[in-house]
Amino acid sequence: MMKKLWGGRFDGKNEHWIDEFGASIQVDQKLADQDIAGSLAHVKMLGETRILTADEVNQITTGLKQVQEKIHQGLLEFTVENEDIHLNIESFLTEEIGPVAGKLHTARSRNDQVATDIHLYVKDATHEVINLINQFRKVLINQAQNNVETILPGYTHLQHAQPISFGHHLMAYYQMLKRDEERFTESLKRVDISPLGSAALAGTTFPINRQLTASELDFAEVYPNSLDAVSDRDFILEFLSNSSLLMMHLSRFCEEIILWCSHEFKFVELSDTYSTGSSIMPQKKNPDMAELIRGKTGRVYGNLMQLLTTMKGLPLAYNKDMQEDKHSVFDSADTITHCLKVMSGMIETMTVNHENMAQSTKKDFSNATELADYLANLGTPFREAHEIVGKLVLECIHNGTYLQDIALSDYQAINPHITAEVYDKLDSYHAVKNRHSFGGTGFNQVQHQIDIAKQEL
Ligand code: ARG
Repeated sequence: MMKKLWGGRFDGKNEHWIDEFGASIQVDQKLADQDIAGSLAHVKMLGETRILTADEVNQITTGLKQVQEKIHQGLLEFTVENEDIHLNIESFLTEEIGPVAGKLHTARSRNDQVATDIHLYVKDATHEVINLINQFRKVLINQAQNNVETILPGYTHLQHAQPISFGHHLMAYYQMLKRDEERFTESLKRVDISPLGSAALAGTTFPINRQLTASELDFAEVYPNSLDAVSDRDFILEFLSNSSLLMMHLSRFCEEIILWCSHEFKFVELSDTYSTGSSIMPQKKNPDMAELIRGKTGRVYGNLMQLLTTMKGLPLAYNKDMQEDKHSVFDSADTITHCLKVMSGMIETMTVNHENMAQSTKKDFSNATELADYLANLGTPFREAHEIVGKLVLECIHNGTYLQDIALSDYQAINPHITAEVYDKLDSYHAVKNRHSFGGTGFNQVQHQIDIAKQEL
């Protein structure tokens, strides 16, 4: 039977399956590097504050680096008897350098240790996510630039509404991703803060220097309240919440891509890399990656709900419940980084079917607003123009024709000032081109958005 590192006050025997239930090593071994970085900073501080001798600090530092090397090489075996990454590493260190290893935990608790590790992890993950979001933003800008004058139907209620530029559509996603990036960046302020030195909950009587460990670990600040420092998981929840919003955006985009790949739309074709076939239907080319991203959104939302629910009602300070924070944050970080990479590649390599997009604005009534606007420009009150055009649409539906098929003489019977210019107005290309209002889909406006976006990255 392995002796527990905290086993002093226990004399009952342990059961392996209970150890397995209580352990987090299966999940938190991912934090080995962060844990060792935290320990190296802590022991350095213990030396500088003369809490440990220089010789003890040297032995521990060398030992920790050896342990790290062996972990990287896969030479050490983690055990559930040693519960979590912190105790596993301490026990490896003891094997490496003997009882002096026990001095590392002076003025420290696993409560500030785990909080430190997870802060370091979330900080790195946030930076990685920000990079990947920015790469995706560049892909969106490039595709938008190639498609400023590509016309497709804009939808509301999934019904043809008004024609728009495909570049404009892509830049809408750019704006969402920009907000996502801002949210992650702003959250760093609350991630980049050191709990180390809060000890179990109340600080310590040892003359530690928290600023020193913070700067050693490259944290911008230290938590001002030790109780808050070991109890706070807000920064993880913020990461999970920002991840959920990001996934919601990716999922909406994927939903559109899935529609656009369908036989009914045929607006885009995904490259083979991002598609799969069917084991029975030889003709199939399925947008699986887009579907998976849409599906994984549920997982990421679930992780947020899980941790919010776990944290609700926990009294201060540390409670074992909080061990359940890691699976969620690891899973969401892995999921969103993979999804962002897949998304970038998928959008970068997709083929845009300009012809089909434009064509589907030719045989529809998405130019009805154009006609109403034209009449309004001739002096008809817009509400009246709306009514007139509505009646014309109804008539066309009965006759199986479109607004552009109506003869000029028939238009002039409605308003003698109508000229042949009306057919230009009804053309979707012109309709899009001329929506010059700020932020609109007019080509110059779309180009303006793209130019600003290029400067942003
Ligand atoms: N494995 C624990 C966790 O992940 C580490 C902190 C344990 N602290 C304690 N007092 N049991 O949360």
